[in-house]
Amino acid sequence: MLQVRATVRNLNPYTTDENPPLLRFHANESPYNLPTKIRESVAKKIKDFEFNHYPDADCSNIRELIAKQIGFEKENILLGNGSDELIGMIIQAFCGDDDKILIPKPTFTMYKQIAVANNVNVAEVKLNSHFDLPGNFFEKIDFFQPKVIFLSYPNNPTGNLFNEETIEKLLENDSILTVIDEAYFHFSDKTFIEKIREKKNLIILRSFSKVGLAGIRAGYLVADPEFVRDLNKVRLPYNINSFSQLVLTEALNNWDEIEKNFLKVKTERENLIKELSNFTFFNICKTSANFVLLKVNNFKTQYIFNVLRENDITVRYFEGSELLEHYIRVTVHKKKENTKLIKALQLIE
Ligand SMILES: Cc1ncc(COP(=O)(O)O)c(C=O)c1O
Repeated sequence: MLQVRATVRNLNPYTTDENPPLLRFHANESPYNLPTKIRESVAKKIKDFEFNHYPDADCSNIRELIAKQIGFEKENILLGNGSDELIGMIIQAFCGDDDKILIPKPTFTMYKQIAVANNVNVAEVKLNSHFDLPGNFFEKIDFFQPKVIFLSYPNNPTGNLFNEETIEKLLENDSILTVIDEAYFHFSDKTFIEKIREKKNLIILRSFSKVGLAGIRAGYLVADPEFVRDLNKVRLPYNINSFSQLVLTEALNNWDEIEKNFLKVKTERENLIKELSNFTFFNICKTSANFVLLKVNNFKTQYIFNVLRENDITVRYFEGSELLEHYIRVTVHKKKENTKLIKALQLIE
């Protein structure tokens, strides 16, 4: 029988909880919907929307708005259908069959998934006990000779920021492309974006999914204009649909409204951490993202998952993961929902 390639057959699909309960603590989304003002403005415009036309293929306006927001040129920016798509475009454009990407372990799963699906080799370097890049990081790089290194900054699922000096040293290596994935930048306020002005071997990835726009699937990358031109050659036409472009335009034109929401998440993160620190059956990992990783003692994480699930809460636990067997990850929610999580956790203790 005709079959897909063995590498693809052996992959596990990206799955999410198919029937998530009311309280979604598992997906690192924003707990806040888009501000009413933006939704009303979208609603008004949808009435005369020209569904019969293809969208603007270059996302010209949106790139202009992003460029203005971050202080770069439109030519530095490329839009993706979620930053996931941009990860795919980078791997497709930079890596041939003999090339390798290097990623920390643990990190965001899609780097490996996309690379493997594209027949690109993956070298994984285990993080140290603080989930930072290990002391032998550069030896590993010398050994594996990767073409591209992906660093999630802050790292998902651990939540921490890697050592800044290590990343700066890495950027000195002009023969490696470093991709710094700043999907959680809005909660960390730490960025390497200014390095784009002096370093050609750097791409910054950003996502709109964590600040209230997960439903429209949009992210962008910032890079040298020559990279942007080349990456554009592997982009599928019209990758950002018209509806997403409309919402993005309204969102970017009213960014101060969106900013209020991610600032609230940062405040709630501190409150949640304070509440979580009263528990003795887990330790809290340091986080700069909109989620918190907890190291669970004494209980199986699946047991905790099940108890929470009975209380209409879903969290992320890492079934089958050797490194994260004892961890659960919870997304920061609004105060009321965070309190429900705390109450449900108290049933366990
Ligand atoms: C580190 C990291 N990069 C990229 C993504 C993908 O984001 P998007 O929704 O923009 O595709 C995620 C999603 O969780 C993530 O955690």
